[in-house]
Amino acid sequence: MKVIRSVELMQAEMMKVRQKEVGFVPTMGFFHNGHTSLMDEAKKENDIVVTSIFVNPLQFGPNEDFDEYPRDEEHDIKKAEEHGVDILFVPDVKSMYPQKMSVIMKSESRVNILCGRSRPGHFDGVITVLTKLFNIIQPTKVYFGMKDAQQLAVVDVLVKDYNFPIQVIGLPTVREDDKLAKSSRNVYLSPAEKEKSVWLYNALMIGQQLVVDGEKNPVTIIDEVRTVLSEKTGAMIDYVELLNYPNLQPVTEIKEQIILAVAVQFNQARLIDNFILDHEGNIVTRL
Ligand code: PAJ
Repeated sequence: MKVIRSVELMQAEMMKVRQKEVGFVPTMGFFHNGHTSLMDEAKKENDIVVTSIFVNPLQFGPNEDFDEYPRDEEHDIKKAEEHGVDILFVPDVKSMYPQKMSVIMKSESRVNILCGRSRPGHFDGVITVLTKLFNIIQPTKVYFGMKDAQQLAVVDVLVKDYNFPIQVIGLPTVREDDKLAKSSRNVYLSPAEKEKSVWLYNALMIGQQLVVDGEKNPVTIIDEVRTVLSEKTGAMIDYVELLNYPNLQPVTEIKEQIILAVAVQFNQARLIDNFILDHEGNIVTRL
């Protein structure tokens, strides 16, 4: 595996492999099985796999955890190598943002709900860095986790709006044995919080079962999920939402692909989880 830190060298490297199918997995590092599952799938479907590690300052709010965001480059290099990554791109902040950006990207849809509501500007930072990474790497396919389903929806519209010749692929959320969605931020949970956090998944399961049983009214499902979450976690609930997917518009009746999504704030960790379901309540496994 090659590790490249310079934008220029990375572009030169990509020129060499241009004729090949290039699968790209953008990340902020601190790899767990969620990240490596994307690398594994990219390996199956492409000639070359590129992964990036870049903790992108633009997508962190002023009171968010940019400085504390967990990092372990040595572990990540080893993991990437084990999972067949051919090129690991690890630029520093100065080379990605040599000067303040003067052409600003701003997403006008799919952002003022779910995580976008409590993280203003977050998705603008995400689409900015991804646009830069897509231009540097020029992948054929790019892989995202459904764990961050809103991010996937925002990237889907970015690629369509700007005609990036890239196929965007969404893959299932990887979970711990107790079903808590894997996240680099799970290290912030206290043991007691960790135990309660399984109720994000359990609450989503209860919501899904209602859809399977034929419940068509989103309000009934949202109320039930909210009650369970609140009683069982004791955490502050940021949101419980049911929207169509990927447009992320509220629905009055369940008759299309939907997302049932939750976010709760524990003491030091904000956790999110979601199920993407078809209109009969079956879990969608690839987007
Ligand atoms: P990061 O949080 O490091 O996530 C990188 C990729 O891993 C994202 O596509 C995310 O959805 C996926 N992922 C994280 N946890 C997962 C899990 N439990 N199961 C499956 N996939 C999982 O998302 C970002 O970085 C950044 O916003 C980025 C896209 C790199 C732009 O800076």
